Parts: sequence; C-alpha cells; structure tokens
Amino acid sequence: MKPITIGILGGGQLARMSAFQAYKLGLNVSILEKNEYSPAGSLTKNEFIGWIDNENIIKNFAESCDIVTLENEFIDFEKLELIEKFGKKVIPSPKTISLIQDKFIQKKTLSEYKIPVPQFLEVTEEMTYKEISKYLGKKFILKSKKLGYDGYGNAAVYNKKQFVEAVKKLSKRHNSLLAEKFIKFSKELAIMVVRTEKEIKTYPVVETIQKDHICHTVIAKADISKKIEKKVKEIAIKSVKAVEGFGLFGIELFLTIDNEILVNEMAPRPHNSGHYTIEACVTSQFENHIRSVLNLPLGSTKMIKPSAVMINLLGKKEGEGVVENYDSALNNPDIHLHIYGKQESRLGRKMGHITLLGKDKKKILREAKKIEKQILI
Ligand SMILES: Nc1ncnc2c1ncn2[C@@H]1O[C@H](COP(=O)(O)OP(=O)(O)O)[C@@H](O)[C@H]1O
Ligand SMILES: [Mg+2]
Repeated sequence: MKPITIGILGGGQLARMSAFQAYKLGLNVSILEKNEYSPAGSLTKNEFIGWIDNENIIKNFAESCDIVTLENEFIDFEKLELIEKFGKKVIPSPKTISLIQDKFIQKKTLSEYKIPVPQFLEVTEEMTYKEISKYLGKKFILKSKKLGYDGYGNAAVYNKKQFVEAVKKLSKRHNSLLAEKFIKFSKELAIMVVRTEKEIKTYPVVETIQKDHICHTVIAKADISKKIEKKVKEIAIKSVKAVEGFGLFGIELFLTIDNEILVNEMAPRPHNSGHYTIEACVTSQFENHIRSVLNLPLGSTKMIKPSAVMINLLGKKEGEGVVENYDSALNNPDIHLHIYGKQESRLGRKMGHITLLGKDKKKILREAKKIEKQILI
C-alpha cells in the first residue's frame, strides 16, 4: 500500500519542520511553492512549482496527495475550496481560514464570541486621523487586513502626518486597513492549541519578545500567575472554537499593564512561538500538526524539562544563505541548532533558530543570546 501523502501549501521553514515529522510517522509529503529549492520543496520528490492562481497546478497538486494543510494563511479561502472540489479535504478548513486571513474579520469573529481583543475599527477611505483618534486615542496601530506578517503590514501612528504616510505605505500591501488601540502591555504571550474531532490540547503559555515587530525570543514557560495561565488557556480554546478550527493554531496575546488578557491575533498553522516544542515537549507542535490533520490521537504537550529558550537566527547579511561561525553552537551539548536551508539570506529574514533547555531560565537565556551573536548567516 502507498503511504498517505500530506500536501502542504507553501514550502518554507514551517512546512519543512512539519514534513520532518510526517516522514517520522511513515507518511509522504507534497509541497506547492512558487520557487525551486525551498526549505520544504527540497525534501520531496512531490515538489510542485507554481502557485494557486494556476488551476492546473492545483489540480496536479491535489491529485498527488490524500489531504491538504498549509503553512501560511495567505491563500484565498476560495482557492482552498477549489482544492476541496478536486476531492481533497483541507485542514484547517476553508471556512476557518476565511475567518482568520482577514485581520478585521478575525477580530470581529473573536469579539462576537466575547473573546477580549484590543478595541478596533475598520478604516474606510474617507476616514481621517482625527475621527479615528477620537475613538482609539492619539496613538494607534494601523494594520493591513490581509498579507501582514513579521510586522510588514503594521504601522504605529501618533499624528496626522504619520497617518497619511502609513495609509499610503500599507495600502501597497493590501488595499483595506483596520486600526487598533495601542496596547500598553507588560508581556506578549503565545500559546499553541491543537484540535481533532475527538480532542483539544493546549501547549504551555510562553512569553514572546519581538524586535522591530519580528518574533525574536521565546521563553517557556512565561512567568505568569496560575490564574493568568488558566485564563489564557481558556481564551485560546475559545478562540479556536470561535473560528470552527481543527488542526494546529498559534494564538498571540497581550498581557496588559492592568493584568488584562487580550488576543492580538491567531494563526491556523505551526507558529514561531512553538518551535521550542521540538526539543522541549513530549510531542512537538509539528508532529501534533500532522497528527491533527489526519485526525489521529494527539501526543502529550507537556514539557520534558522545566524551561526552554528559543532565539531566531535572523539574516545578518544579504547574499547566500550559508551559515558561518557555528562551531561553538555545535560544540555546546545544550544547544539545538536548526538551519532552514534557505538559498538566500536577507537582513532580518528568518534563517534558523536555536533552542536551549534547562532549569534556570535566566542562565539559558544568557547562553542563547551569546551563541546567537556568534552565528553568522
Ligand atoms: N494593538 C497593538 N498595540 C501594541 N502593539 C501592537 C499592537 N498590535 C501589534 N503590536 C505589536 O506588533 C507586533 C506585530 O503585530 P501583529 O499584529 O502580530 O502582526 P504580524 O502579523 O506582523 O505578526 C506584535 O507582536 C506587537 O509587538
Ligand atoms: Mg503577530
């Protein structure tokens, strides 16, 4: 019998790390990606080069696999429906993706379920800074409704001039915007949730630290009270149910200076804040991603060591994606090094990550920062 083949839309690092786990379980993988030599496409004979605007490609891709999942939420849900028309189920479902991929619809859906989110409003063309600031305060965040990631679709706005510039800049990404109240947070938190038709499980609550709006460091577990932890888990489960979600989800939250919890956004896929689970948890987010897509029993989400720290290796140069200076990371038995195999490095591009496990969070964080500084990629 031929092994089951999971189709993944997208060939980046998230697809790559999910593919590793699919292979571990004896499954096959098909990858659809725009360009050759992608981190995940390079792993399989079933590599489809092209994109979902080409119906032929979708058809061939769908025929190559038994079930389809994705590594980003940017594919129009109508295209996912088309894959289903070719007879292959997509998980998370096109309906779920339609409720998430537009940040305005996502926030609306969550707030209709009484899930706390920052105050927000849709920005229509004729709206002025004055009108918006009357509602959200002088400082607010403008976001493109779609296609924003790693901060590329966001801009903080303090005055009329910045507002005009930000609208111009963001509209290039997507022609429709929303505005959100600027949240004063004490910490940013994140949590992974995995759900099948029979089970729903949460991973530990972690703290995420972003630099220039890009996730840089993840600390597991977050230093928060039991009460906050319980509330975050409840909110996360409710958020997944609100979008009728099955599969794996990453939820980003703010812990405000008043100890309030607000959902920032959710992602219907493996998430950067869950990379630490590869070494730190009994079952990684990627393995549970694969298990959930196939509706298999889920693995334990518990940590096997008291603490973990993950630091992203962001591109430090422009050019070939070759790693240099990583001997000290390889020589250190506590460091788990991951390089994504991207052909090109760019300043700030996610090229890999390192994870350290241990007891003393401060100590492993110090060590991780030291190693991150040395590696050049
Ligand atoms: N309403 C907000 N108030 C304060 N900071 C915010 C707000 N929204 C986003 N940010 C900051 O910008 C980062 C990126 O924003 P996010 O909406 O998560 O976009 P992306 O899709 O690029 O990850 C967040 O992690 C947070 O640090
Ligand atoms: Mg985010």
